Amino acid sequence: MVVTQGPIAWEPHEPTGVGGDNAEALAMAHLFSEFAETAVSKLALYRRLCEGAATDLEVAARLLLAPPDQQVPNLLLAAVHDVLLAGEQSPLAQWYPTVLGEASVARKVGDGDDDPWPHFRTLALHHPQVEMHLKTARTQTNEVGRCSALYPAIWSVLANRGPVGLIELGASAGLNTDPTRYGYRYLGDQPITSIGPKAKLILECQLRGIRVPQMPPEPFEVASAVGVDLNPLNVGRLSDSRWLLACQWPEETDRCAQLQAALALATVVPPQVRRGDLAHELSSLIAAVPDGAYPIVTATWVLGYLSLNRQRELLGELERIGRHRDLAFVFAEQPERIPGLPMPPRSDGVVDGRSTALVAMEWVDGRRNETRLGDMHPHGRWIEWLEGPNVWVPVDSEPNPLFS
Ligand SMILES: C[S@@+](CC[C@H](N)C(=O)[O-])C[C@H]1O[C@@H](n2cnc3c(N)ncnc32)[C@H](O)[C@@H]1O
Repeated sequence: MVVTQGPIAWEPHEPTGVGGDNAEALAMAHLFSEFAETAVSKLALYRRLCEGAATDLEVAARLLLAPPDQQVPNLLLAAVHDVLLAGEQSPLAQWYPTVLGEASVARKVGDGDDDPWPHFRTLALHHPQVEMHLKTARTQTNEVGRCSALYPAIWSVLANRGPVGLIELGASAGLNTDPTRYGYRYLGDQPITSIGPKAKLILECQLRGIRVPQMPPEPFEVASAVGVDLNPLNVGRLSDSRWLLACQWPEETDRCAQLQAALALATVVPPQVRRGDLAHELSSLIAAVPDGAYPIVTATWVLGYLSLNRQRELLGELERIGRHRDLAFVFAEQPERIPGLPMPPRSDGVVDGRSTALVAMEWVDGRRNETRLGDMHPHGRWIEWLEGPNVWVPVDSEPNPLFS
């Protein structure tokens, strides 16, 4: 499924003055240069477009139309991607696999006629919808692959407690609010498959390390699943689901296809996501969990965007609720970004790097404990399970890099 609608009628217009001085434009150009060398360095199309913007102050300065917290290269890339997904008839579309669909092969990035930059530049400077996105939109993602970590993490605290009441903080479009929507295939020395009868999308994930997570014999029972987000995206609204796709990088075709499949499922059974602040809504969301269900709160790649004080506020709120009610909190975040929350060290003593840590906190009879369940790729491409019984690996298998 490619999320498109008819092309938008537009006349090329003079770009709106952005009022920035040369130093500000240079700062934006520098952001594009950094982005080209780091985040998108291996993606030929996006690297070329960012290199182009890094040496073209007029284009780089377009970011100054956005509010300061949104002046990031991905906003301009997404704004242009969105107008192409909406059906804009630009030659630039030939370089975007997401726009072409599976039937066509995207054009290779090269010099002369094979250079996408002049076409990108035209849209970046003159398309009114691009300008509108720059002024009003926020980059937003919903990374379905993270469910590969959430699913065993939720099970590790739920076990045989009965049905679960799931609450996701910073849920975006809610695609990860109920991980039992999907089936799972974990690849590695000890492959595991967990595919429920209802799963129409199978997520694949590499298992690293020497331990494997326990898996439920069949998908656990979900009594309720609700998300909260400051800016929830509505999967039933074409412009919202298209924007989610626009914020992805078109050359990452497997991620884009996974997102599109999850969006298609979500339009059939829409996730519930409430608008609001996660700390402010927490207690009412927990109070709404049906009787007999065990509340498990989840958060992936959202807590690191909160200030230290807001992280402490959230922890204080969980502590307050946990004095009177058993509950669990499972989160996946980069350790250095969440100094306001407990971060149990890895059980093997390996010092934290830039991996995403998977942590479970539990409040039982008014007492709290926390467990480092594992580490994971930020998008869930792999997980390394750290908690639980050792798994014996054949002596002739690859040595584990952690211990060799
Ligand atoms: C990087 S996205 C991650 C979305 C989703 N958790 C995932 O893993 O795909 C962060 C999300 O958190 C939301 N968010 C940020 N601060 C928030 C807050 N204080 N309360 C509720 N949502 C928040 C943003 O709107 C955004 O949708």
